[in-house]
Amino acid sequence: MIQLVKGFKDILPGEIELWQHIETTAAKHFQSFGFKEIRIPVLERTELFSRSIGDDTDIVEKEMYTFADRKGEMLTLRPEATASVVRAYIQHKLHADNLPRKLYTIGPMFRRERPQKGRFRQFYQINAEVFGVASPLVDAQMIFMLMGLFTKLSVPEISAHINSIGCPDCRPRFKAAMTAFLETRMNSLCEDCRKRSTRNPLRVLDCKVPGCREAIEGAPSLESHLCCDCADHFHTVKSSLTDLNIPFVHDHRLVRGLDYYTRTTFEIQTQALGAQNAVAGGGRYDELVKFLGGPPQPAFGFAIGFDRLAAILEPRQEDFQRHPALFVAALGKAGQETAFQWLCALNEMGIPAEMDLENRSLKSQMKQADRLHAALVLILGDDEIQKQVAVLRNMETKEQEEIPVADVIPALMKILTARKADGKE
Ligand code: HAM
Repeated sequence: MIQLVKGFKDILPGEIELWQHIETTAAKHFQSFGFKEIRIPVLERTELFSRSIGDDTDIVEKEMYTFADRKGEMLTLRPEATASVVRAYIQHKLHADNLPRKLYTIGPMFRRERPQKGRFRQFYQINAEVFGVASPLVDAQMIFMLMGLFTKLSVPEISAHINSIGCPDCRPRFKAAMTAFLETRMNSLCEDCRKRSTRNPLRVLDCKVPGCREAIEGAPSLESHLCCDCADHFHTVKSSLTDLNIPFVHDHRLVRGLDYYTRTTFEIQTQALGAQNAVAGGGRYDELVKFLGGPPQPAFGFAIGFDRLAAILEPRQEDFQRHPALFVAALGKAGQETAFQWLCALNEMGIPAEMDLENRSLKSQMKQADRLHAALVLILGDDEIQKQVAVLRNMETKEQEEIPVADVIPALMKILTARKADGKE
């Protein structure tokens, strides 16, 4: 039997209802903040990602699914969505009117990482990006929006971690200080960090290897290297979050694994998933639009790890299951034919109803209704046809009532509407 590719997964009925709930809640929540959906392809030119995310990042160096197509063009399955959203933003001149632009997108990403709990090679993200606002208020607003979504979804035990990594004016000074510091610690660094020490010294700050964490005790602080504008910006982000009652931790080591960030970076972390503790991450990327050929345009965004969010909420999966409102149990040829007409009419009118089309016994049809968790069963056997009534059985209370055959559809609609109003469907 042909099996799934390692690190990829199926999302099955039973799980998907929770995913759908998350997706609709997020879309509605973002729309109330003025966001509009954008759909972008999963395949882009490799250059888009190597330039945006950065050649020296783990994603570009080790994790992209890249291949030459039949004409030799280098293409990559997107490892993230921001670069593509920026590409679309520039290509379709979405900057031309109506600033700020607020866009969200939901879909699969691909990174060839080592699979483990909470880490997949195809995973899903919910992204939100705002273009055209330099104000630090937007940074706070986006974190507020994200935390609000998590509250709506009742996500337990999360915390917001924020930092500022400066701008092209002040970051080079920090990088130089960090490189000089790391030279004195070279023997204690892991192999990756030794390479990073000159090419991407910021990344050493968030290396998880215990030896590296110890070696960088006493490293220069990013905060003390921020220029005045970056320091002011960060100060306003923090005070606005406090005013909005969003608790946060200033995490001096939070630098993120993508090179396009400027100033604010942040992650929402959870205790529920072991090592893969980031359930969302993002920040400001004021240089990227221009860098990819657009006009100078500030931007801020984040991505939620959909799989991780669904894993945290999995214990509540049952709450989102949908069951048929009605099962039609029919016996005999005439009963089957009439019931089939009813079933099609009900389904068309938006009622989730089911019936057995294989002529099974009444006993096995009732078992099937039970397995499907149908709240009501409409029974139509030869006797009922003779009497021109159908029997409606409430599976919970076991009460039964007779409905004249000629009146079945309107009577059922009335009963089902009343049950819905009572919150029973
Ligand atoms: P990221 O931190 O690489 O940022 O990914 C965002 C989130 O996606 C992570 O916090 C995590 O929850 C989830 N994630 C990442 N890799 C995996 C994986 N292999 N398996 C499961 N979940 C994963 C970005 O992608 C940026 N584009 C976010 C952004 C948007 N920045 C600005 N705008």
